[in-house]
Amino acid sequence: GLNPKLKKTVVLVGMMGAGKSAVGRALASALNVPFRDSDAEIEKAANMTIAEIFARDGEAFFRRKETQVIERLLDARPAVLSTGGGAYMTEGNRSMITQKGVAVWLDADLKVLWGRVRHKDTRPLLRTPDPLATLNEIYERRVPVYALADLAVKSEQGLSIDAMARKVIET
Ligand code: S3P
Repeated sequence: GLNPKLKKTVVLVGMMGAGKSAVGRALASALNVPFRDSDAEIEKAANMTIAEIFARDGEAFFRRKETQVIERLLDARPAVLSTGGGAYMTEGNRSMITQKGVAVWLDADLKVLWGRVRHKDTRPLLRTPDPLATLNEIYERRVPVYALADLAVKSEQGLSIDAMARKVIET
């Protein structure tokens, strides 16, 4: 489980719609450490939304910024850091996260993920003719990689944000 006297940053990884930001915020407040969000940091630094960055500069550019932001946040004092769904996919990011933090995979069924992302237009990767099929493909491809995280916590339908945060602490 998570040591309440946090010495390492807790890095939340997992799919879009898993609740990384909402659970991360609750977790940070329960652990009494700062909450950080890599997507929000990238948006702030660029003064653009993630969708605008993808459209203007491309995904590869976004991934470089993401790595830089995560590295910088991991070098700051212990916190809860929520990352974008793709952040854990590269070996470089994973080894950085494992070295300097503890990776927690927030898992959820496709149905739950889809329910949370379907009405939003903020995820450029889902701008395809069949976003549900795309989400499913991304999910299938990424699950074996998320499974490399130090801890896995499944989000069950009906569990509140605070209950999820407690579950992370108790897992
Ligand atoms: C992405 C997830 C997004 C954001 C970007 C790419 C991904 O973050 O980083 O759209 O590759 O899964 P969330 O997981 O917070 O939606």
